Formats: sequence, structure tokens, C-alpha cells
Amino acid sequence: MSETNRQFELRQLLKAYRKGLISDALFEEQLREIDSGVDATGETPAVATAATEVRSPEPPPRVWTCGSRQFDSERGMLVHFIDEFRAGEAFGAEAFALWAEVSTDPRLRGGLHAVREREDAHARLLAARLSDLGAAPRAELPAQFRETARTKLRSREIRDADKVRAFLERLPEGEAAVQPILDVLAQIERDHETCALLEEILVDEIATLKWFEETATRLGVGRAAAAEAVPAATNGRAQAGDDAAGLRTGL
Ligand SMILES: [Fe+2]
Repeated sequence: MSETNRQFELRQLLKAYRKGLISDALFEEQLREIDSGVDATGETPAVATAATEVRSPEPPPRVWTCGSRQFDSERGMLVHFIDEFRAGEAFGAEAFALWAEVSTDPRLRGGLHAVREREDAHARLLAARLSDLGAAPRAELPAQFRETARTKLRSREIRDADKVRAFLERLPEGEAAVQPILDVLAQIERDHETCALLEEILVDEIATLKWFEETATRLGVGRAAAAEAVPAATNGRAQAGDDAAGLRTGL
């Protein structure tokens, strides 16, 4: 009850009392109601109710995250992630093919062909899912990154072992390399088809990682050897920056 209303009601009450229209008991009861802000029906006045509602905090709206980006829907997050992942896998297929053409190690060449096929399949599956979700492919890896990677991977001057080491240096160790996929999977509640697709691709990505780790060990450039050979300041993981978020670049 506003102060103006309260004063008005008090005046009306006093007027009625002075004229003898209400008893002492009713006067006192009405006076208490006006003072307490509760009307004769026992309900709290609307003004007081509105004030209570203003004080009640609204729950924050749900957000979905992908890296540093936030989305207001699961679909928005998935369209963004699938498109970026697709672009990385497509370039991965191209890059591994370039490497396989110049590799002098038969075991490495065989593995690279298998990895290239997986990357290519992932790119096609992700593009198809993007289309199902009503979105067009837009993402591309930065042009300079692609050109630098092509130059290095098709080089006959750079040893296979050094290319393997450089690949692993750019990735976080172990499961952290696939964390971007795990983070998205953990947020999916409605799109079960995309969820299953990403889970299957995840299995392949882990297989690719495992093969690279084993190859690095065979060639004597495993993580332990790489850590000794490469100064910390120039370690690839410290430089990863925008050119690689785990396997999302396809490399
Ligand atoms: Fe990949």
C-alpha cells in the first residue's frame, strides 16, 4: 500500500469513527489492518506482491559452449562444431595424402593411407549431418596454416620422423587431444543422431592418435624424446594457438 493510499484510508476511517458509524473495536481492527498493509480480505496489497516478485531472481538462461563460443541452443552449438570439425577433417585428408606421396617409410605410408581414408569419411559424414540440420558448410582453416602445412608435409627434405614428432607436439597429450569432442558430447541431450555420429568418429580419432604415438615410439621420436629435443619455449603445444584445437583441425 502506498503512503498516499494509507493516508486516504486513515482519513476515511477517522471520519466514520467520529460520526459514530463504527464501533471502537471495528475502528481498532481497521486501524491495525491499515498499519500492517493488509486489506480487509486478508490479502497482501498488489504493490507489496509486485515488490516481492521484483526481488526474486530469474534463473539464468541455459547456454551451450564450444571452445570460447556460447550458443543459446543445442542445435546452434552443434552446427558450429560440426562445421569446424568437417573443415578440419577435410583438410586432414588432403594433408595426409600429400605426406603419404613423399614418405619413404613403407609402414608409415600404409598407416597414412588408412588415416587419410578415415579423415575423408569423417568430413563427408559431418557435411551430410550439417546439411540434415539445415546448415551450409562455411568453416575453413586459416589459409596461411593450410599453405604452411602443405609445404611441410609434401617436402622431401623434412624426415618422416620429424613430421611425426611435429604432429604430436601440436596436440595435447592423451585424452585431452579429443577433449573438444568430449565437451560437445557431454552437452547433447536432444540430437541423438549427431551424438552417435560423433561418438563413432571419436573412436577413430583415438585410433589415429594411438597409431601416431606408436609410430613415434618406433621412429624414436616419442613424447619423452621430443621433450628433450625441443626447448620448452618452442614446444608446439605452446604454439598451437588458432591453428589447432586437438584433432578438430584434422591433423
Ligand atoms: Fe581427424
